[in-house]
Amino acid sequence: MTENFICLLLPLLVISQTFPAAGEPDPMKYPYRIEKLSHFRFYWHNIFSGPNPTVVNIVPPLEHKNKTTWLFGKVDMIDDPLTETPEAGSRLLGRAQGLYAMASQEEIGMLMAMDFVFSTGKYNGSTLTILGRNPALEKVREMPVIGGSGLFRFARGYVKASTYSYDIKTGDAVVEYNVYVLHF
Ligand SMILES: *[C@@H]1O[C@H](CO)[C@@H](O)[C@H](O)[C@H]1NC(C)=O
Ligand SMILES: *[C@@H]1O[C@H](CO)[C@@H](O)[C@H](O)[C@H]1NC(C)=O
Repeated sequence: MTENFICLLLPLLVISQTFPAAGEPDPMKYPYRIEKLSHFRFYWHNIFSGPNPTVVNIVPPLEHKNKTTWLFGKVDMIDDPLTETPEAGSRLLGRAQGLYAMASQEEIGMLMAMDFVFSTGKYNGSTLTILGRNPALEKVREMPVIGGSGLFRFARGYVKASTYSYDIKTGDAVVEYNVYVLHF
C-alpha cells in the first residue's frame, strides 16, 4: 500500500522539479531554507478630502431597514500612500492598494483586502497581501498577512493596525501599521 502510494507520487515530484517557469530563477534551487522574521512600521493615509483623494466609494451603503446599520455593505477602493512617519509629506515607502468593505451589521467592522506595494530600497516592487477583519474603533486591530511577491514570496504573518488620527468631518485617517512577517 505504502509502496504503491510512493510510486504514484514520485513521477509528480520529478515533474515538478523539471519545469521552472521561463525566465525565472528556479524556485527549487532557490535558498528557500531559512525563514527570517521582519518587522516594518509605517503610516497608512486614507484621504477623502482635498483635490487628491486616495479613496473612492465604489459601492454605496445599501438600503437597510435597520438604520443603525447604515454603513453595512459600503465598499471603498483605496490607493493609499504608506509613509515613514505620520506626516503626509514624509518619505513614501509604498502604497496600499485594494479595498475595504463594511462587513458588520453591529459595529464599524471592515473586511480589508489590500496589497502593500513597496517602492523603496531592496523591497522596491515586492508586495505583501493583507486580508482580514478590521473593527476600526478598537485601539489595536490584528489582520493576517496571507502572502507576498518578490522578496516576500511565501510570506505569512500579521499586522497590528492602530489609528493615529481620524477627522470625523472628512473621514481622513492616518493609521499606524506594524507588520510582522516571516519570509526568506
Ligand atoms: C438594529 O440593529 C442593532 C444592532 O444589531 C440592534 O441592537 C437593534 O435592536 C436593531 N433595531 C431594530 C429596530 O431591529
Ligand atoms: C523602483 O523600481 C522601479 C521599476 O523598476 C524604478 O523605476 C524605480 O526607480 C525604483 N525606485 C527606487 C526608489 O529604487
